[in-house]
Amino acid sequence: MDKERKLIIAGNWKMNKTVAEALDLVNGLKRELSNVKEVDIVVCPPFTALSEVSKAILDSNIRLGAQNMSEHNVGAFTGEIAAVMLKEFSVRYVILGHSERRQYQKESDDLIARKALAAHAASLKPIICVGETLQEREAGLTEKVLETQVRGSLAGLSRDQMVETIIAYEPVWAIGTGKTATTEQAQQAHAFIRSLLARLYDEATARKVRIQYGGSVKPSNARELMSQPDVDGALVGGASLEVRSFSDIVKNSI
Ligand code: PGA
Repeated sequence: MDKERKLIIAGNWKMNKTVAEALDLVNGLKRELSNVKEVDIVVCPPFTALSEVSKAILDSNIRLGAQNMSEHNVGAFTGEIAAVMLKEFSVRYVILGHSERRQYQKESDDLIARKALAAHAASLKPIICVGETLQEREAGLTEKVLETQVRGSLAGLSRDQMVETIIAYEPVWAIGTGKTATTEQAQQAHAFIRSLLARLYDEATARKVRIQYGGSVKPSNARELMSQPDVDGALVGGASLEVRSFSDIVKNSI
């Protein structure tokens, strides 16, 4: 597949995998995917497995991401993890504003924007998640919701930072439900987000930003989704927990 932007496929392991299980998975991925150069491959284990997974992927084509981080750099924030702590394990990416955090931890666009700035200050690339609920889609509010989330959670990012930011479009109704957005729905949302970036920044910047699709991505739908002109990769939850399904998603996307 020939695209102007390099595909980026990330596995969001969520709250799964002990250290031993994480190592099994990542060692399997290393074996299956060692020849892949066309796609940026990222795994996002829970914090507790970052150290060991980081060592396991040294000298491989797999990069490390975290699932969240604090907006603060240091101090009395019990239970939080700072960007500089992630950097110690060679983390390169950090997922911010996943819909589960927006829902369960009540994360706001404002907070996500502050985290994104803190990530860039530490040279971590944020993967910023946006997406509408089923009610919002059915009420015809998809673009309005996406516009609010994109404007709010990217607030304050410079052009240079924007180009190093990844957006994940994840319709909430497609996450973990087995319901995937149709390729047309995905492409339409991605094209809308890119046009919004062109308005907020400029055309050249918008063309460079990678926009991942997330929500029940599996080996059987990866190829069609990735072939859409504005879909530049995937953020994979459930199907990233097994060597076979995640490596097939990567291979089917090439
Ligand atoms: P899913 O999750 O692939 O299990 O739908 C995607 C995500 O939440 O990032």
